[in-house]
Formats: sequence, C-alpha cells, structure tokens
Amino acid sequence: MELTGKRIALGITGGIAAYKSPELVRLLIKEGATVQVVMTEAATRFIAPVTFQALSGKPVFSDQWDSRVANNMAHIDLSRDADVILVAPASADFLAKLAHGLADDLLSTLALARDCPLLVAPAMNRQMWENVATQRNVATLDGDGIAILGPACGDQACGEIGLGRMIEPEALVAALIAFFQPKRLSGKKVLLTAGPTFEAIDPVRGITNLSSGKMGFAVARAAQEAGAEVILISGPANQPTPLGVTRIDVVSGLEMHSAVMKHAARQDVFIGIAAVADYRPKTVAEHKIKKDGQGAPAIELVQNPDILADVAALPVPPLCVGFAAESTNLAEYAERKRKAKKVPLIVGNLIQDGFGGDNNTLTLFDDGGATPLPAGSKIELARALVAHIATLLVKVR
Ligand code: PMT
Repeated sequence: MELTGKRIALGITGGIAAYKSPELVRLLIKEGATVQVVMTEAATRFIAPVTFQALSGKPVFSDQWDSRVANNMAHIDLSRDADVILVAPASADFLAKLAHGLADDLLSTLALARDCPLLVAPAMNRQMWENVATQRNVATLDGDGIAILGPACGDQACGEIGLGRMIEPEALVAALIAFFQPKRLSGKKVLLTAGPTFEAIDPVRGITNLSSGKMGFAVARAAQEAGAEVILISGPANQPTPLGVTRIDVVSGLEMHSAVMKHAARQDVFIGIAAVADYRPKTVAEHKIKKDGQGAPAIELVQNPDILADVAALPVPPLCVGFAAESTNLAEYAERKRKAKKVPLIVGNLIQDGFGGDNNTLTLFDDGGATPLPAGSKIELARALVAHIATLLVKVR
C-alpha cells in the first residue's frame, strides 16, 4: 500500500489506450490511493464512465456544466481535492491544449486551474508523436514543469510499430509512487551493479554466483525515485528495468569491470550490489569440451578484478558503498570487507535472508558503527539505504 492517503485526479482523454485505464484505477486503489476520474467527451466514446465509477467508487466527472456541482466550479473543487493530476492516456490534442493553455472542457480547465503537480502519459500513433507540432508541445510542457511519462515503443492499435504506446499501468503506478518519494538525491549521479556475473568455461558452460538481481534493481529504483540520475550495470538477471533508469547489460566480471570504470569517475555515488564471481577460467574453450574418457578436465582459474576496490581507489572516487552476503559472523566479515576495500559503507545481509526473495534484512556498517534496518521488502530497505547514503553524502561533500 504505497499510495495510502494520496488523492489522485485521473484524467482520461480520447484514445484507444483508454482501455488500459480501468486497470490503472484498480492498481491505484490497490495501493491505497483515492482516485477521482475525469474524462473528456472523446474518452467516453472509448469506454463507459460507469466502469470507472465501479472501480473507483466515485462518480465520474466529464461535463463542465455538471449540475451535481452546486457552485458550478468542478474544475476548482477537483483541483483542490487532488495531490496530483495524472492524465493517462493523454492524446496529441490534449497535449496541444495544455501547451497553449486552452481550457474548453472540464479536464483542460482543471489542468489550467490546478494547484498541484501534473503528470501526463502520452498515447498516440507514432507519426502523431513524431510530428514536429507534438514534439514542440511536449518540449513546452517539459519546460512548464509537467512530467511526461513515456510514451513506450511497440505494437500500436493502428498496426504500426513505434514510439507512441501508453506506458503500462504498472509502470504508471510505479511512477506515481516515485513521484511521492522525498528527492534526497536530486541532482546526484548514482552508478550501481546488480545481479550475478557469468564466467564462461566453454560455449555452453560457466561459473556463476547466486543472485536474482532483486536487491540491486530495488536500490536502482529507490535512487531514481529519490531524484538521482541512475546507471545500472547488471549481470544476467531477469528483472524489469525501473522506469527512468539507464540499464547496461553485461555477462562477465571483466565486462562489468570495464563498464563500471567507463562511468565511475563522473558519479557521486557507486553502489556494488552485484555478486561478482571472484574467479574466472584462465581460458575459454572455443568448442564444447567433450567427455574423452580421460577423467574430469582441470580448469585453471584466475582472479577477477575487484570492481568496488578499483572504484574506491580512483583519484577522486564517488562515495563507495559495498554489499556483503555472509552465512555467519556478519559484523566481523562486513567490517573486514569495508577495511580491505577502503569504502565508507558496507551493507551486510545474511545469505539465508538476501538471495532470491522479495524481502531482506540489512545492517549498515560505517564509521558510525552498525545500524540494523528493520526487516522488510527489498524496495523498503532500498529506500532506507538511499536515505542513509544521502546523509553520508552531506557529511563527506
Ligand atoms: O540479487 P538478490 O537475489 O536480490 O540477492 C542480493 C544479494 C544477496 C546478492 C546482495 O544483497 C549482496 O549481498 N551482494 C553482494 C554479494 C557479496 O557478498 O559480494 P562479495 O563479498 O563477493 O563482494 C563484496 C563487495 O565487493 C560487493 O559490493 C561486490 O559487488 C563487490 N565486488 C566483489 C568482487 C569483485 N570482483 N568485484 C566487486 O566489486
């Protein structure tokens, strides 16, 4: 329930993507939000208001002259009652109206009369999106401080493929949750590693570590929610990329090392959450190694570079944060890693708590001692970690 108590005015304009808006309302309500739906006349041609009334538990507004509103100022009342206005889908026509301050129906009047932030999720045919007029309007809206969510690329209702799809309801909910998070890392650049690495032995075999990537992706999301510009370098992990995060996929420890070193010097914070394989085979066989009856082959291993230690050793390093997954003696081993890698903060977790699942238990080890965080979901812990990193940044900078 990450939107408990939040009041959302959801504007729906005329576009086929309106068929996704009932699901959006359902998800917002599930997160604890109060949703007031406002539709344009064109939107009511695509989907009946009663659907939204049933899902939101509130009558839908679409008429500027609605006789239910005694003072005939629905646009003012709706604006005062909202913490945020989200328009999803937002048609090309609606973006044009917004850009020019037109107010000829209830939703556009509400947008003009708002005293709360406005987010829009464009949805239209790719040529309409690419049209110079739409792009000019989008640039105006961006300059006016209106958040543009999407659009996404993919199959379109018109049969074309391209940029113009409304981003999915789950991603819109995540964007709203992010919107309400404190912007503790505003203007900061954060680089992270997540997931395992895979060290090839031959074309079909390799050495890897256990890591789903969930913890690292949660920290990337929390940093982005906190207003940072985030680059996530991930080993093979089947996780969706958090909205607004730049993701770079790598496979091996060497690839992860070179991707990190390419970006590290320009960052404010580096967080190593990846379970990097400490060793890799010295050589990778070109062809699949065959069972030749001579017994098991010997595989010579060499050590992978220590990415975290190398970032910490840069002439002007970012604030470096490491993770330590241990099965016993968490405090002792985490402190040992902190000293060995010369980093100000190590985040300790027990292997039995941290790997694979949605929840974790973290303890932060820094110059201030050990700070255990309350056990929780990985995203809750990630947000608490980001808050701690923000306080460290203030101290060191
Ligand atoms: O992905 P999940 O399933 O959600 O699981 C999350 C996790 C348990 C993998 C994560 O929370 C975690 O603890 N990651 C670090 C795992 C670990 O113990 O790493 P390590 O002890 O090998 O390394 C310590 C630190 O040095 C880590 O920050 C690691 O990223 C970094 N390191 C290690 C080796 C290496 N060659 N380069 C590195 O940068």
